[in-house]
Amino acid sequence: MTTVGIIGAGQLGRMLGFAGQKMGLEFVFLDPSDDPPAAVIGPVLKYPFDCDEGLAKLAAMTDIVTYEFENVPVAAIERVAPTTAVFPPARALKHAQDRMSEKTLFETLAIPVPGFRAVDSKEDLRRAAREIGLPVVVKTRRLGYDGKGQFIVRSTDEIETACRALGSNDLIAEEWIAFDREISALGARNVSGEIVHYPLTENEHRNGMLRISRAPADTADLVAAAQDYLAKLLERLDYVGVIALELFVTSNGLLANEFAPRVHNSGHWTIEGAQTSQFENHLRAILDMPLGDTAMLGFAGMVNLIGKMPADRSILGTAPWHLHDYGKTPRPGRKLGHATIVTTSAAERDSALEHVSAVVAQ
Ligand SMILES: Nc1ncnc2c1ncn2[C@@H]1O[C@H](COP(=O)(O)OP(=O)(O)O)[C@@H](O)[C@H]1O
Ligand SMILES: [Mg+2]
Repeated sequence: MTTVGIIGAGQLGRMLGFAGQKMGLEFVFLDPSDDPPAAVIGPVLKYPFDCDEGLAKLAAMTDIVTYEFENVPVAAIERVAPTTAVFPPARALKHAQDRMSEKTLFETLAIPVPGFRAVDSKEDLRRAAREIGLPVVVKTRRLGYDGKGQFIVRSTDEIETACRALGSNDLIAEEWIAFDREISALGARNVSGEIVHYPLTENEHRNGMLRISRAPADTADLVAAAQDYLAKLLERLDYVGVIALELFVTSNGLLANEFAPRVHNSGHWTIEGAQTSQFENHLRAILDMPLGDTAMLGFAGMVNLIGKMPADRSILGTAPWHLHDYGKTPRPGRKLGHATIVTTSAAERDSALEHVSAVVAQ
């Protein structure tokens, strides 16, 4: 019996668990929170993510360790790695945790990015605004997610406010991109180096948070470039597991925004919409099994359920919708679940998405 350890016991851990249970795997989680979503899958060691004792227990109880969110301290991974293999590798996590290091890596790999500058003082931000041109997006270099830790500076008067909101060091200033749309390239690489790509996904964000995904993205002409960028990243990092690369589509082609070294919200549609889900492929990758077919089973759409579950859940529980409820306590801005649809035409998918996103609008 193979036991997989997962740092973090949120919804991603829970969905990895559902996929893994079918494969005969067992799971142990590490998470300090009370009654986390993945507790239905297996035991949760209730320790902080950087606690030596908790990490040592997790390593001792498992054959392999992975993680479900990118703010796991790199030191925690490095502590586990000598006794139990940890994937994705710490080097991927290091780049993903620091937006400067992430964007610099993209540049090194000749993956186009928005203009960016490191900001460690108000003066740096003034200079960045001058050199890049307004508006600029100022982001904390570390620990941002779902649009948190970001500020759009539209005029020089707003520089003060941005620094008050975010502090004035350990920031990055980025060119504001008036993109046509946002897409993500999702793929996996196993220990032996086999790579698979999922069809591209188009993503709609509101207030920095993912609301709706559609796959395949209607961007056939961009598939080759997106897959080339993703493969370069996977190979440079000697990556193992599922990865998601977020890209802006502009009239001049693709620009890379960020990558996530884990299964990703924009790939939730793969549970019902692809031959092999991202969760199964992540487990296959880290266990060095052959990767599963990523072909689509139709046109897939996904709506996130954020803040509160819709009062009338019947529409989401009725075919052809698939409702996923993470079992979390509702709180404003919290991801509580998602619903997926798989249809035979893009038009049918889009009208169903429009209808349901109005019902669940928060
Ligand atoms: N440089 C940019 N230009 C335009 N929009 C941006 C830029 N950076 C971020 N955004 C918007 O904010 C969202 C969240 O930013 P992102 O960098 O992906 O941070 P997070 O880690 O919070 O996901 C993006 O998906 C995009 O919609
Ligand atoms: Mg993002």
